[in-house]
Amino acid sequence: MTPGFDYASLAACGSLRLSISASLRFSPLSVNALISLGVAQGWYGCGPLALSHRFRHQTQSPYAFCIRLLRVFALHLSTTMQKTDRIYIAGHRGLAGSAIHRELQRAGYANIVTRTSAELNLRERDTVRAFFEKERPQVVAVAAAKVGGIKANNDFPVEFLLWNLQIQNNVIEAAAEFGVEKLLFLGSSCIYPKHAHQPITEDALLTGPLEPTNDAYAIAKIAGIKLCQSYSRQYGKRFISAMPTNLYGPGDNFDLANSHVLPALLRKIHEAKMRGYNEVVVWGTGTPRREFLHADDLAAACRFLLENYDDPALMNVGYGDDVTIRELAETICEVVGFKGALTFDTTKPDGTPRKLMDSSRLRALGWQPTISLREGIRTTYEWYLHQHK
Ligand SMILES: NC(=O)c1ccc[n+]([C@@H]2O[C@H](COP(=O)([O-])OP(=O)(O)OC[C@H]3O[C@@H](n4cnc5c(N)ncnc54)[C@H](OP(=O)(O)O)[C@@H]3O)[C@@H](O)[C@H]2O)c1
Repeated sequence: MTPGFDYASLAACGSLRLSISASLRFSPLSVNALISLGVAQGWYGCGPLALSHRFRHQTQSPYAFCIRLLRVFALHLSTTMQKTDRIYIAGHRGLAGSAIHRELQRAGYANIVTRTSAELNLRERDTVRAFFEKERPQVVAVAAAKVGGIKANNDFPVEFLLWNLQIQNNVIEAAAEFGVEKLLFLGSSCIYPKHAHQPITEDALLTGPLEPTNDAYAIAKIAGIKLCQSYSRQYGKRFISAMPTNLYGPGDNFDLANSHVLPALLRKIHEAKMRGYNEVVVWGTGTPRREFLHADDLAAACRFLLENYDDPALMNVGYGDDVTIRELAETICEVVGFKGALTFDTTKPDGTPRKLMDSSRLRALGWQPTISLREGIRTTYEWYLHQHK
């Protein structure tokens, strides 16, 4: 993408981009490249009239313009992901990684490399270097991390900071050393300040203090983003970062000691129903607002970014709407069929009052989520029941 990229213009051109893409059978990236060129040329400033005016008053000669157009397409052809590319998904058994694995397989990527943490401990630098030297992946998705809910983050800040730094440093450094062409690093919405203006745009990064319950994890993630951006700036690497909002879906962690709020509530409410309880206790006041994205929607966004986005600027990946924890718990009760009462334990921490991400940049490029919260909870519950038959 060109420096000083005009996202407002791109948003206006979003539908144009998709229709050009569909009618000319170009990939969305080809059309993005064309639109980027147009933005750089200033074509889209003030609508069609200005467009034709600017065409007539181009200061560049037609020859120079054609050369520039060819350069953009040559760059595109050299950077597009191929279906035969060797892709390493770090953390392919996790919630996000397993969804990315399914999504890439579904899309026809057939040369995917995976390792469990028992086979390849990403915290060991030499082991990671040896793996990259042998396997030579061309594309890497970094979905391996030490991940947990409020309690785990609060109780084990050392592991959340140190292990995540080790994992991401080892993978990103080895990727650079062994010629990986494209790397996607998954951060998290908790990198943003506790009191960031809502919905949170990408430029809120490092504008205020973090939520203290997970600041160790957030600082590790911020370091990962900066490392990708630094490799991009210093060595021209196509290492990009995406910030998913709270995820849920099949493969989630339902362990009450270290799970996130949605799977924890789903399990608690399911068990209350099975044991015939007439009450479920929910941590906190129930008033914080949270956004939830199905892991399959995240995976589609990751594929979209791997195929279409090379800018080191981090990218939010959210659902676009939030609910209170009380509303979430009520929806889960309906899906599970629990008829008892919800009570709120206000002695437990609430965390950040609201966390809704502004994902308009990614939407302007052409991605959007497709799985509603209720539908996502329903299919996640089905998966959970299947696992615990
Ligand atoms: N879950 C969310 O709500 C959420 C929200 C925003 C961002 N994210 C980000 O998305 C990414 C993935 O999260 P997730 O929820 O999918 O996590 P997850 O379900 O806990 O999976 C983490 C994966 O990391 C792997 N891993 C952990 N330590 C490792 C090590 N030392 N060596 C090798 N592999 C290791 C695990 O491999 P094994 O299974 O083989 O042990 C596991 O597959 C993380 O970067 C997280 O920050 C998650």
